[in-house]
Amino acid sequence: MAKRVVLAYSGGLDTSVAVRWMIEEWGVEVVCVLVNVGQDAESSESFEDIQARAIAAGALECVVVDARDEMADEFCANAIYANARYEGKYPLVSALSRPVIVRHLVDQARKFSATAVAHGCTGKGNDQVRFEVGTHALAPDLEVLAPARNWGMTRADSVDFAEKWDIPIRASKEKIYSIDENLWGRAIECGAMEDPWATPPEEPYTLTRVTNVEPVELVLSFKACVPVAIDNVPISLADLIRQMNHRAGATGFGRLDMVENRRVGIKSREVYECPAALAIIAAHSDLEDLVLERDVHHEKARLESRWSELVYDGMWFSPLKEALDAFMLDTQRFVTGDVRLRFEAPGLMRIVGRRSPHALYDYGLATYDAADTFQHADSEGYVKIYGLGVKTWAARQGAKHATPPST
Ligand code: ARG
Repeated sequence: MAKRVVLAYSGGLDTSVAVRWMIEEWGVEVVCVLVNVGQDAESSESFEDIQARAIAAGALECVVVDARDEMADEFCANAIYANARYEGKYPLVSALSRPVIVRHLVDQARKFSATAVAHGCTGKGNDQVRFEVGTHALAPDLEVLAPARNWGMTRADSVDFAEKWDIPIRASKEKIYSIDENLWGRAIECGAMEDPWATPPEEPYTLTRVTNVEPVELVLSFKACVPVAIDNVPISLADLIRQMNHRAGATGFGRLDMVENRRVGIKSREVYECPAALAIIAAHSDLEDLVLERDVHHEKARLESRWSELVYDGMWFSPLKEALDAFMLDTQRFVTGDVRLRFEAPGLMRIVGRRSPHALYDYGLATYDAADTFQHADSEGYVKIYGLGVKTWAARQGAKHATPPST
């Protein structure tokens, strides 16, 4: 019996060619799995058309899985509590969707009694790492195949291959951009942007074209770190993200242009548009300023970058990531409240207010007016002791800083 492989299918040129190529070169049977993580929002193509392409390429079946709520409620929600931004910038758009896809890939591999899964990534990117490490974490017995690392075809060769096998692709030989998108945003690579000095062209942006020059102010409500309402209207997280993408994106907010370090040792220039992700993380982080105790807050900030690195590096399903999740989650119990955001075209966002029933902000302690409750006299001894070590050092060793007493 032929070996059966479950392929993570996107409907693009590479994964379409991968179906036929694996059948011809490796003599396997291919089942395609198309996981909807929110990429449908901007797409001009229906899932039926994409399924038909998989079948035309030779797949036994093309299963479509709707994972949009799962993507939001589990993966984006966790990225929110970790204020996740790789290298302080990138909110992990593609990195968050890969473990969702892996989970369904493994699920379908079991359903179809497959012994391997496959992906269409090349050898140069992070996504191969995420697919493979993720699969091994969930199903150590499954083999992972990466035909695009083996076939040695250029893009033009792949187009010829598709034509030869009557696979109805939409791609041309000169593909300009490589775009990956989901609920959390869009990643745009290649074309003119491969020169880090070149200004990115307007053309590939879809979420952040300015269509509204009026300021937009809205209130985002969080409950134990999860955004649950916009302007007091309760809404599912997936819908809230979609709405934020449109409302914030329409004012031009949400673009990033950065050079990042890939896991495989390559620096690459990447352009992203992720209005909802950036606005929600900024609002969440601002609310934490109000409710987290200082030491917890500072320690969390250190661990956030580690969490982001792990997820970027394909370690979603890993012991350290899970341990950090437990820490993050414990800090989030009181992250409940409202944040007011103001967007002004083109691309400016400010947080203009925040409140929480669990705020550690104490007006009586903070104010300089008559309502002041702070015990000023208590500071005298506190500051003396706090500075005692430095005072002793200055007297005995710190002579070069000292000014001699006037005589
Ligand atoms: N550099 C980003 C990341 O590694 C985006 C990758 C986008 N993937 C793609 N196939 N275009 O997460």
